[in-house]
Amino acid sequence: MSNHHQSLDMANLDLYKQYLVSAFLAMEPSDSLISLARKCGGGFISEDVQQFIWAYCINNSEENCYVPYLKIFLKKLIDEVESTGGDVLDEFYERYAHYMVSLKEDAPGNEKAWIVKCISFFFHDVPSHPGQMQMVVPLQCSLNMLEGDTGCALWPSSLFLSEFILSCPEVFTRKSCFEVGSGVGLLGVCLKHVTASQVILTDGDASSLENLRLNLEMNKVENLDTSLDRSKSSPYMVQCIHLPWENANESELQQFKPDIVLGADVIYNPSCLPHLVRVLSILLNQRKTSNSKVNGNAQVNDKEENSKDNDSKVWNKERLQGATLETLIEEVVNGPVALIASVIRNIDTFDCFLKLCCQNDILVRDMTESIRPFNLLPYMDSYKRSDVHLLLLSYSSK
Ligand SMILES: C[S@@+](CC[C@H](N)C(=O)[O-])C[C@H]1O[C@@H](n2cnc3c(N)ncnc32)[C@H](O)[C@@H]1O
Repeated sequence: MSNHHQSLDMANLDLYKQYLVSAFLAMEPSDSLISLARKCGGGFISEDVQQFIWAYCINNSEENCYVPYLKIFLKKLIDEVESTGGDVLDEFYERYAHYMVSLKEDAPGNEKAWIVKCISFFFHDVPSHPGQMQMVVPLQCSLNMLEGDTGCALWPSSLFLSEFILSCPEVFTRKSCFEVGSGVGLLGVCLKHVTASQVILTDGDASSLENLRLNLEMNKVENLDTSLDRSKSSPYMVQCIHLPWENANESELQQFKPDIVLGADVIYNPSCLPHLVRVLSILLNQRKTSNSKVNGNAQVNDKEENSKDNDSKVWNKERLQGATLETLIEEVVNGPVALIASVIRNIDTFDCFLKLCCQNDILVRDMTESIRPFNLLPYMDSYKRSDVHLLLLSYSSK
């Protein structure tokens, strides 16, 4: 699939214009686009900026762009220029009137639910990417949760982890990486970019997995839809595997020997957490035998819960030990580690995750304070980097 951004030469545009086009292609909220458009014009949306928006965004995008999104942007644009006493381009009025009519004619329910967002990473002055200005990752996402599950949307933790991977490629280069709950597949594209030796992407939702494969193809990442059974070895470095945590088979999982396990925004459903932690504990403790401490059907083992309740601070968020990039680099040499990025939406759910890790001898440390990935998505106002926490997990034999 060709995306129109690929045919645009943005390298010679000034920075705010590059940000504006990138925000438009990533389908950022129209208020963010208006704010960037003002910056392009030095405080107001001049005629020159309008011509630019027409040429680089609106007139160039109809084939790939979601028309209701274009319509809202045009409306905000027209309002903004009118309210500052400027002259609105005739093309804006004409196109807006066209959308008013054509969208009305669309029968309800026929609304397109899949869109392609292009995520542009900016590498200005980033030492790990000398000479490379930008990397653009097109990703098909679902606009509603009816077509595709949560895994067909892009979540902030995967934006954070992708900035981390691209900022610190040395951590991932020549490493075998295994992701749980891969969703739309952004991390897979980034891991391939930094030349991980093997990338295993997994998800429990079949429609998300299908969409993930499509996204890898769109990004020209060769991949194979495979099973957990490692006897069917694959020449492909990137593999997609259907892996619902609830019925992940221990002996099959043990055949993987990842250096780094990754998970972005996977801590949100309390009923899935025991299963997720079981999967993580198997992947992190390769020598573990079948008497895994998390029972596939159990929530939390009551006896253990009681005994460890006396020491409840162990899993109190405030008491988490910190870890640095150096800790990560040192530990990955000696055994598998997991990097779990998460927005903490419900503290009880998060505490439950920490408690389950503790019961399964998984040491959890917080890297959030010490890790500062480069801001590679400077145009993306909707993504709040500071909301994301990064945890380092490793098996602690006792
Ligand atoms: C909130 S989404 C995050 C997706 C992606 N990592 C991101 O950050 O954009 C959670 C992901 O976990 C997957 N997931 C949720 N429960 C699961 C389970 N029980 N087994 C396997 N995958 C699951 C979903 O299908 C989805 O892809």
